[in-house]
Amino acid sequence: MDATETISTFTDFFVSRGHRLLAGRTLLPQPGDPVLFTSAGMHPLTPFLAGAPHPLGRRLTGVQRCLRTTDLEEVGDQSHLTVFQMLGSWSLGDYDGPQSLRWGMELICDHFGLNPELLHATVFDGNGPVGPDAEALQTWEDLGLPVELLKDNWWSNGPTGPCGPDSEIFAWTGDGPPSGRPSTDPRWVELWNHVTMRYLREPDGSLSPLPRPVVDTGMGLERLLMVAQQVGSVFETDLFAPWIAVLPGLWQPGERSLRILTDHLRSSVVVIADGVRPSSTGRGYVLRRLVRRSLTALWSGCDGPAGWGGGEDSLTLGDLPSDLIADTGERFGLAADPAVVRGVLLSEERKFAGLVRRGRSVLARLYPSGRLTEDDYEFLRDTHGLPRELVAELANPQRS
Ligand code: GLY
Repeated sequence: MDATETISTFTDFFVSRGHRLLAGRTLLPQPGDPVLFTSAGMHPLTPFLAGAPHPLGRRLTGVQRCLRTTDLEEVGDQSHLTVFQMLGSWSLGDYDGPQSLRWGMELICDHFGLNPELLHATVFDGNGPVGPDAEALQTWEDLGLPVELLKDNWWSNGPTGPCGPDSEIFAWTGDGPPSGRPSTDPRWVELWNHVTMRYLREPDGSLSPLPRPVVDTGMGLERLLMVAQQVGSVFETDLFAPWIAVLPGLWQPGERSLRILTDHLRSSVVVIADGVRPSSTGRGYVLRRLVRRSLTALWSGCDGPAGWGGGEDSLTLGDLPSDLIADTGERFGLAADPAVVRGVLLSEERKFAGLVRRGRSVLARLYPSGRLTEDDYEFLRDTHGLPRELVAELANPQRS
């Protein structure tokens, strides 16, 4: 099943069980929201999770584009991404958590073909004023899944707001039979989170009851594809095939650089198409970091003759093909104008190339040995405007 069929199988499953389909929203939360980007499928639904009646009713489903910067350093591994699509289902005071778990199990095993023997559940073990989630534990036992009880299975989308115990479904991605538990073996990959929200976290940290209990679930599309298509990383799924087919021919990046370039540039296309432009603060700064990290991967990690030693003049984001940009936009339901996207990337590239040239000459003059202390990094940042990441890379280029 490819990405398009996977999305429709998910939403059709819930629609046939009385859910209404929500349109995916922009990455940018409503004005006044302190959060920079939507980072979970439930984010646009926050007022409805907290008790407001939703115009489409009490059972909802949809797919929402999300952006997480907390995982930026992990991008390059098997499954972490910056921009991704989250498949979600919600019960606003309708069915309960166990029903959601039963449907979840039915969908991933009977419709997506996952082997139940390669699944593991985790359940909230109780913490502070809230006791263990006995209903979830009983449900997984009835469904025959091994369970790990964990104190930190508690989900919220920020310091205040709706929250509650969660139960996570993990899939085994190792070779050979499963071993260990989700908390002890990273080959268990988190797939789908079912949160039973019963509480509102108040600004003083206390919990008050929600007017009605809510079930909020979120599953990353890319991870589901990785597991269902039985490939070694999200980058080997059909979703990333256009990027993985094109970038090696353009730039010959090493494996890790290829993943970073794919994630960061794909994310940049979506963020630009959602209207963000690079700047030194807020959302624009997130975009700037994505583009600069892409350029660092491009200029430092390429296996071709023009690497970090001066390749910034010949390896350029301006070579990104128009159809790759347009196809990426379409997959997120966005009209990404290739000329606009390329213009934004190129303007940022010119600024960064200037910084690299300046950084290289300052480093050669002040630190010819290439050895720098923390004070040196601070001095270079404060006096010469050279970010730590860039200085570290110029002083000690990593090839990936
Ligand atoms: N709201 C559930 C999740 O994002 O994991």
